[in-house]
Amino acid sequence: MAAKKLECVKVEKKNGIAWVLLNRPEKRNAMSPQLHFEMDETLKELETDPEVRCVVIAGNGGYFSAGQDLKEFFRENEKNPRGRKAAAEAANRWRWERLYKYDKPTIAMVEGYCVGGAFMQLCAVDFVVAANDTVFSLSEVNWGILPGALVSKVVSDTILPRHALYYACLGDPFDGKEAERIGLINFSVPKSQLVSKTVELAQKLMAKSPAVLRATKHAVRQVRTMDFDQSYDYLAAKGQAIKVGDTEDSYNTGLSQFLDEKSYKPTFEPFALKDAPKKSGKKSAKKAVKKAAKKKAGKKSARRR
Ligand code: ACO
Repeated sequence: MAAKKLECVKVEKKNGIAWVLLNRPEKRNAMSPQLHFEMDETLKELETDPEVRCVVIAGNGGYFSAGQDLKEFFRENEKNPRGRKAAAEAANRWRWERLYKYDKPTIAMVEGYCVGGAFMQLCAVDFVVAANDTVFSLSEVNWGILPGALVSKVVSDTILPRHALYYACLGDPFDGKEAERIGLINFSVPKSQLVSKTVELAQKLMAKSPAVLRATKHAVRQVRTMDFDQSYDYLAAKGQAIKVGDTEDSYNTGLSQFLDEKSYKPTFEPFALKDAPKKSGKKSAKKAVKKAAKKKAGKKSARRR
């Protein structure tokens, strides 16, 4: 991590996952300029940190984020154009450019409040798990602005326009189940299952080839704005590009484990990585796959007998 001490952000690394927590719980994790600068630096560091395979964005104290800090980000910066520009640049960079194009899988773990400007990081990450009782709100219309930066854009790109218009124009709060129904998030779960569901998803992502996963998430995002010819071309080139510097040699390893070793079935699970992240108390993925294959073979021969 950066040598500079973090105050508005907390980072915990465990078993390949970096938990990045917005850390102003007394302000419901409203985002101040300092928080934006720290988040921007933190995400930059973690993207190339070899210990980290998946990043989870969450909030300390049970709150995802109450949006931009109305005092520190807006009012106090009104007469400080230089400070305002620097804060806005950092805010937009980490909440959109960095997260949207991040080289590692990203998950938002959402609880408490998710308001206004927090929808930027909500829509930028790859996946979202939220507690059923989370309060989501596009509150901007309620206090006198439109959903700015990129909020209006990314919300209407993520969910159907009717839902985007409804919640942006009404500013009504809604819960996790409604967020799941309108496609804003992947999973809404009871609060007691929030962490375990997030870890389960992170572990599934970390079991995939990092090079293939990276290319896949970039490809799914990029082709949305391409026509069919451009997509054919882009996807063919991207498919070849995976092979450059892929430490897992994914294409050959995946084929060989299925066709020659018969150790897994791609329909149900990924091939076993050489460089799998450690899971505490569990056998490596490869060992587990081999054991399962052996057990199955044993059952088959018993049936024949
Ligand atoms: N900006 C600045 N301070 C905030 C913000 C915010 N977005 N949200 C909460 N706080 C502060 C409160 O002012 C209060 O500070 P204080 O203790 O110094 O008085 C503290 O955080 C706790 O907030 P409460 O309102 O007391 O907590 P409660 O749990 O009752 O309500 C809630 C939380 C619902 C989030 C409420 O504070 C609220 O509506 N905040 C505004 C949310 C918002 O509209 N955000 C801006 C969206 S627009 C954008 O981001 C561009």
